[in-house]
Amino acid sequence: MNSQHKKLAVLTSGGDAPGMNAALRSIVRVGVGHGLEIIAIRRGFKGLLLDEFMPLGPRDVSNIIQRGGTIIKTARSEEFKTPAGLQKAKENLERNKIEGLILIGGDGTFRGGGELAKVWPGQIIGVPGTIDNDVWGTAFTIGFDTAVNTAMEGIDKIRDTAESHERFFLVEVMGRHSGFIALEVGIASGAEEILMPEQRFEIREICDRLCRGRARGKASSIMVVAEGQETGGAMRIAKEMQRLSQIESRVVILGHLQRGGQPTAKDRVLATKLGAHAVEMFIRGAGQIMVGEVGGQLCTTPLEETWTKRKELDPFLLTLHPLLSS
Ligand code: F6P
Repeated sequence: MNSQHKKLAVLTSGGDAPGMNAALRSIVRVGVGHGLEIIAIRRGFKGLLLDEFMPLGPRDVSNIIQRGGTIIKTARSEEFKTPAGLQKAKENLERNKIEGLILIGGDGTFRGGGELAKVWPGQIIGVPGTIDNDVWGTAFTIGFDTAVNTAMEGIDKIRDTAESHERFFLVEVMGRHSGFIALEVGIASGAEEILMPEQRFEIREICDRLCRGRARGKASSIMVVAEGQETGGAMRIAKEMQRLSQIESRVVILGHLQRGGQPTAKDRVLATKLGAHAVEMFIRGAGQIMVGEVGGQLCTTPLEETWTKRKELDPFLLTLHPLLSS
């Protein structure tokens, strides 16, 4: 297929994730290699409305594979979701003669892409980039591995002081609606408790388990808490533990620290593969899909499934954890 001079746009949207730059580099270099013009839209959907279009060549993406964040910026836009916003987006894409749009982001970004597809006939292709890993259609999202490693390094350090002072620590990790980071980092750091939005729990039972652990000789305990779990975050749980069982603890909220930093090799390679695959899919004429990797194989998923289907936490890790923390 002759792809000479076709214009393919790309934007990053929602929370940034380490590896987004690596995906962008891959899209630009593979796209230009196939004769496409690659146009970056700065500031996500917000920039799409403000007509912030900018051509990118291979040299513009030099030395970014190792950088966290996104050099083309990201944003969350409420205006984009309105009928007037979508109309404006369509007009700007048409005026700039864009034929395809790659969205690097999470399920919220893809939902926005789904709305845009109702008014704009171009090819929309999603690349999953979010530290949360809560996107159907790919085993891992870009940024998840880095965020987990960042959180794990933090918890390893907390473990030192927890052990010295024989204290309980609650460490809150990101994941507004999902416990992927919490489960992975909880296992990787040997946490005694892992609290995730997907699982119900009783604070009193947790207190009892922690006290039993202490009686068995555990000098310190780490509880990993996903920010999205419904009891209201690590601070509230710590207060409840104090009220119910007089358990004194310390709380650490890792927060946005988890979103920054150099991407791991795993995230850089995943981002490079998914970026390239998105370009290939555009050249083949595909649209309204997300590229992903499942079982080590590159694949595509209808865009709509990325927010209508829910990816489950690893059931093996869930059953294993109680045994490991005994
Ligand atoms: O979706 C990624 C994420 O980092 C979530 O884990 C977190 O809840 C949210 O973004 C925070 O968003 P913001 O940076 O807008 O506060």
